[in-house]
Amino acid sequence: MIDKGVRTVRVGVVGCGYWGPKLIRNFHSIPGSELSMVADLRQDRLDHIKGLYPSVETTTSYEALLDSSVEAVAIATPVSRHFEMARQALLANKHVLVEKPLTQNTEYANALIDLARERKRILMVGHTFEYNPAVEYLKSLIESGELGRVYYVNATRVNLGIFQKDINVIWDLAPHDVSILLYLLGLKPDQISARGSAYVQPGIEDVAYVTLNFPNGIMADVRVSWLDPCKIRRITVVGSKKMVVYDDVDPNEKIRIYDKGVDAPPYSDTMEQFRLSYRYGDITTPAISNAEPLAIETSHFLECIRSGKTPRSDGAVGRDVVRILEAAQRSLRNGGSSEHLAN
Ligand SMILES: NC(=O)c1ccc[n+]([C@@H]2O[C@H](COP(=O)([O-])OP(=O)(O)OC[C@H]3O[C@@H](n4cnc5c(N)ncnc54)[C@H](O)[C@@H]3O)[C@@H](O)[C@H]2O)c1
Repeated sequence: MIDKGVRTVRVGVVGCGYWGPKLIRNFHSIPGSELSMVADLRQDRLDHIKGLYPSVETTTSYEALLDSSVEAVAIATPVSRHFEMARQALLANKHVLVEKPLTQNTEYANALIDLARERKRILMVGHTFEYNPAVEYLKSLIESGELGRVYYVNATRVNLGIFQKDINVIWDLAPHDVSILLYLLGLKPDQISARGSAYVQPGIEDVAYVTLNFPNGIMADVRVSWLDPCKIRRITVVGSKKMVVYDDVDPNEKIRIYDKGVDAPPYSDTMEQFRLSYRYGDITTPAISNAEPLAIETSHFLECIRSGKTPRSDGAVGRDVVRILEAAQRSLRNGGSSEHLAN
């Protein structure tokens, strides 16, 4: 959509499998965006997009997209293609939005960060949940001190499918929870361990449990699975004053704040005197904006291009997530070893 108030940015999208069409829909409709070209190797996917957006040019050649007048490229291809495609786009002086996870390893992520800096281009990673109004609300609750000291976080992201062929469930689903944790806590973990099993496809873990230990004694557990009967997308944050449950699947009450807690007696000399006091207060469900996170994310990308501002989920945040996924992968291969991350 062309909006008179802001400079219009011409955008190209590569990859229109499952996720690409959602980016395409947003870049076609958000103010100040002109979706001009879409690339994919599959002609049937391009025909589908052409049917939806007849004015958009389609091509099977990524090079043609890079040779075109687009100022920005969004990359929604399999993870194994992210690095090379983002590198080519930056070399062609395009601003780049890369889907999560940014790259397959830290070395590649660092190379993209350096190249973007050199070329003075925006490099952003599609950590969609960092733009989710419920996650933003949760962050404001933590920062305001309403929850007290954060003790621990539990994140569950499970469903039946979608099975990936090139990456395991940690690289597919955990980027969401890891990026949420880094954003919420404003901290990086110093220790990571992971366990997992491959039940359906040999060698590709479909179920995994990742534990992250943050400074200040905060522990976070992330459970990810493609092999679960129920779709659960839930994060519980337990603080010294209050506890919060963020349920992304609940259409109306995404955030529930529980005024619950436990206080230990200030002192006790005997077991009889030692009595914990439990607090059972109100449960509140604040109104949360239902704006689409991807619309906020794509608008933010274009706004950063116009202003030169650093994106919330810039290359460095993308690299931090990749480092954590790498550490989790090492731990998984080493039978759940505790991996240290120097921060
Ligand atoms: N942010 C989110 O919430 C979210 C959700 C799902 C997927 N994703 C990410 O989106 C990316 C794509 O995932 P998907 O599930 O859509 O995958 P997909 O396999 O459904 O689609 C990938 C598309 O890329 C095309 N492609 C592959 N190589 C290409 C090339 N060299 N040139 C042009 N096109 C090429 C394929 O033909 C396919 O249509 C992944 O990085 C994934 O992690 C993000």
